[in-house]
Amino acid sequence: MTIRTSLSVFLATAVAALAAACGSSGKGAAAPQSGKSDVMDKMMGEGMAMGADEGSTFGPLEVGADWQTYTKVNREPVTSPTHGGRLVDTYVNDVGLAAYKTEDQPMPVGTVLVKTSMEVKDGTPTGEPGPVFVMQKREAGFNPDHEDWYFAIRWESPPERWKAKVGGPFYWRSPSKKVDYCWQCHENYDRFLGQVPADKRAY
Ligand code: HEC
Repeated sequence: MTIRTSLSVFLATAVAALAAACGSSGKGAAAPQSGKSDVMDKMMGEGMAMGADEGSTFGPLEVGADWQTYTKVNREPVTSPTHGGRLVDTYVNDVGLAAYKTEDQPMPVGTVLVKTSMEVKDGTPTGEPGPVFVMQKREAGFNPDHEDWYFAIRWESPPERWKAKVGGPFYWRSPSKKVDYCWQCHENYDRFLGQVPADKRAY
């Protein structure tokens, strides 16, 4: 096999794996078993290995810091196979709320989406807070290839079993390469939105 062929086979496999992970958000999708590395957990480990870049210094949450004033759009916590099998809640600020509830209205500039998460181990919530995931719709030109979305992940208190992998508290956000894997999956969805599973929507 030539190098070129093996590269394209590798790429096709990687894309298929990512697409499978992205498609597993439907209802009834099983949470990954603990110990089995899913896309999210693998990417978090790789992000750590990439070294520091712009948008990777730790500090208080910037975009989305006021998420407690937003509207929660899920009725009960949702098991998110694409976010490490964690239990998640999704919050939308006033700017984006009306559009988020539709299937197709463009998301207005200034929309902020915050997803909080709780750790799950062996299928049982542990009570430990997981990472906070943030998306923000920025003005045209911020990131034209990715519909001008900003992404961030911040984890203030990774539990002991995570420390070896992620090194401790971290906060990665655009333009850091460490959040590229966010849009690599989100770009598969209309408006870049994964959306709350239909049976868990509070709207
Ligand atoms: C493998 C696919 C995949 C990856 C990687 C991924 N997401 Fe998601 N994301 C989804 C899906 C599916 C949903 C909707 C269901 C859910 O909440 O799990 C979602 C929902 C969200 C939401 C709620 C708003 C919405 O409806 O889309 C935010 C915020 C979010 N993700 C941020 C992030 C960030 C930040 C990263 C990277 C650190 C990331 N995601 C990585 C698939 C992914």
